[in-house]
Amino acid sequence: MKNVILEKLETIPFSIKYIEDVSEIHFQVHDGWSMKSLISDIANTATQSFVAVYDERALAFCSYLVTDDAELLFVCTHPSYRRMGIATKLITDSLAMLPQTLNSVVLEVRSRNRGALEFYKTLGFEKLGIRKDFYSTPKDDAIVMEKTRHGVKELN
Ligand SMILES: CC(C)(COP(=O)(O)OP(=O)(O)OC[C@H]1O[C@@H](n2cnc3c(N)ncnc32)[C@H](O)[C@@H]1OP(=O)(O)O)[C@@H](O)C(=O)NCCC(=O)NCCS
Repeated sequence: MKNVILEKLETIPFSIKYIEDVSEIHFQVHDGWSMKSLISDIANTATQSFVAVYDERALAFCSYLVTDDAELLFVCTHPSYRRMGIATKLITDSLAMLPQTLNSVVLEVRSRNRGALEFYKTLGFEKLGIRKDFYSTPKDDAIVMEKTRHGVKELN
């Protein structure tokens, strides 16, 4: 099943068509975005967001704030479809769809989110530093990670 899904998985820009699927995923994730935030994200011209779609259903979501550089704001996969390579494909494809003039992509992740830290490492993100007590509920440090332009190009 994993290979069937990966073969047919498509990365496309997030749109209102997938709002219910994406809202359901966010509802099940810590720090997930509300339906209102997701609708604002679609309208926000400073962000570029993408979904991984299989059989007309969005199984994963990611969003970048794009200026001179890019910040990966969030990535999440539906809990029933994790460890299948879906987020890897979504991030790899979406990085290739961002402007090629970008120097780097940065992100912040909770220090206790070991799964996400591992995930980002497999994609070539490297630790830049720590922001002490950056998160509340629960309190946690943020690990700042970066993938350089060279790394982004490697993914293409
Ligand atoms: C992090 C997350 C997006 C990964 O999505 P995914 O579709 O399961 O990721 P992939 O299947 O592409 O994982 C690729 C590799 O990353 C690593 N990885 C992913 N999740 C992991 C976990 N929970 N623990 C350890 N390593 C993990 C593994 O090396 C994995 O390869 P493997 O399955 O062959 O061992 C998903 O767990 C998620 O939605 N988490 C909740 C939201 C979140 O914390 N987002 C990040 C902060 S914004």
